[in-house]
Amino acid sequence: MDKYIIKGGARLVGDVEISGAKNAALALLATTLMTDEKVVIDNLPDVKDINIVIDSIAEIGAKVDRRDRNTVAVQADDIYDVVVNNEYVKKIRTSYYLLGALLGRYKYAEVTLPGGCNIGSRPIDQHIKGFKALGAKVKIEHGMISADAREHGLVGNNVYFDVVSVGATISVMLAATLAEGKTRIENAAKEPQVVDVANMLNTMGANIKGAGTDVIRISGVKKLHKTEYSVIPDPIEAATFMMAAVVTKGNILVKNVIPKHLEAVTAKILETGSIVEEFDDAIRVIGGGKLETTHIKTLPYPGFPTDMQPQFTVALCLAGGTSTVTESLFESRFKYVDELTKMGADIRVEGNTAIIRGVDKLSGAEVNALDLRAGAALVLAGIVADGFTTVEDVYFIQRGYERFPEKLRKLGATIELVTSEKEEQKFRLRVG
Ligand code: EPZ
Repeated sequence: MDKYIIKGGARLVGDVEISGAKNAALALLATTLMTDEKVVIDNLPDVKDINIVIDSIAEIGAKVDRRDRNTVAVQADDIYDVVVNNEYVKKIRTSYYLLGALLGRYKYAEVTLPGGCNIGSRPIDQHIKGFKALGAKVKIEHGMISADAREHGLVGNNVYFDVVSVGATISVMLAATLAEGKTRIENAAKEPQVVDVANMLNTMGANIKGAGTDVIRISGVKKLHKTEYSVIPDPIEAATFMMAAVVTKGNILVKNVIPKHLEAVTAKILETGSIVEEFDDAIRVIGGGKLETTHIKTLPYPGFPTDMQPQFTVALCLAGGTSTVTESLFESRFKYVDELTKMGADIRVEGNTAIIRGVDKLSGAEVNALDLRAGAALVLAGIVADGFTTVEDVYFIQRGYERFPEKLRKLGATIELVTSEKEEQKFRLRVG
């Protein structure tokens, strides 16, 4: 019965240290499988999804040395299985990174079809299109996807993506790195994690140019070698804490960030009337006064991130008028609206747009996390609401936010992870 229980009403003030980016680290861990030499990754976030991938690569023979909570050394010199169907991989979305990495190195791989957060249909046709363009035969059978290029090898090619996909860009980039000849990926995703993976591969001897633009050029190499690499700071965790300052009218210095990665969120926060101060590797957000309304449309980077849509919606619930949020990437990413409604929010969803009428206050309720970012949004709502809020199914939040309650408590929030009714009663008694 793990859940967060929150006593609302705090104004969050202080500093918070941002962890490494979960979505970059998931791909970097798959990348460690592409060489038989040792790869050390630090600034790794200690979150459930990362630990699942670590267990999953260990299960196929990678030697994993977890040096501390945020550092891992991986040596994949004794991989004995390229069919990844273990209990771990079934729990994650990014099995396609393992497919791209293993296909590149062994020219054959088979993994469980991706799972992950239930935010829409999440097809993988673009991954398949890319692997096929490189000469692999791709099959989906019995819940597994296989890519086979053993007969003629992987050969570089032009790949044009019909939709901008982070996952497809990275998984095809991984495979193409160890293909023969040149690959050109057009309409590539430009997200920071794409650049991070290209940077790590280049430190391992790959030849990748253009990551961060919509055309990525890869000259295949025969072998990759060891490296030591540090994951970029998590832009979504950072932006979530920026929103914590906005919704609680607080004052938070968000440390260890790359402000450039946060520009879309920063621009929208400014439109709500909050103050944002940028430093080299930190951002301060100061909230206060009635929030102004704004209109948001999620887009691939550098547009407004879909992963910040629920957290921003919480702020707009408290704005002085009507705002709209349009979700253009994942069709089922408004399920949390029903949960916010239990807390007194006034939101109507029409198609892929949420119409949000600002209310004076939210009130505590029992809500379900539903998915990772929705869960974080409901925690923010609980912190600003009157009374007690319980957020159930915190497993989703633990997938991607490192020590979330601890970081929030340091800023003044009253929040606790409780695992039994007794613990919950004790918490309620303690905080009144
Ligand atoms: C990544 O998912 C992130 N996950 C998501 O974060 C994030 O919401 C998403 O990118 C968009 O930024 C990880 O990095 C692990 P996509 P991914 O492929 O790669 C369509 C979180 O909360 N599409 O960029 O799976 C797709 O349906 C998670 O941390 C196809 O049509 O997303 C969507 O509309 C949730 N065919 C759009 O592209 C394909 O083959 C973007 O998806 C692939 C995608």
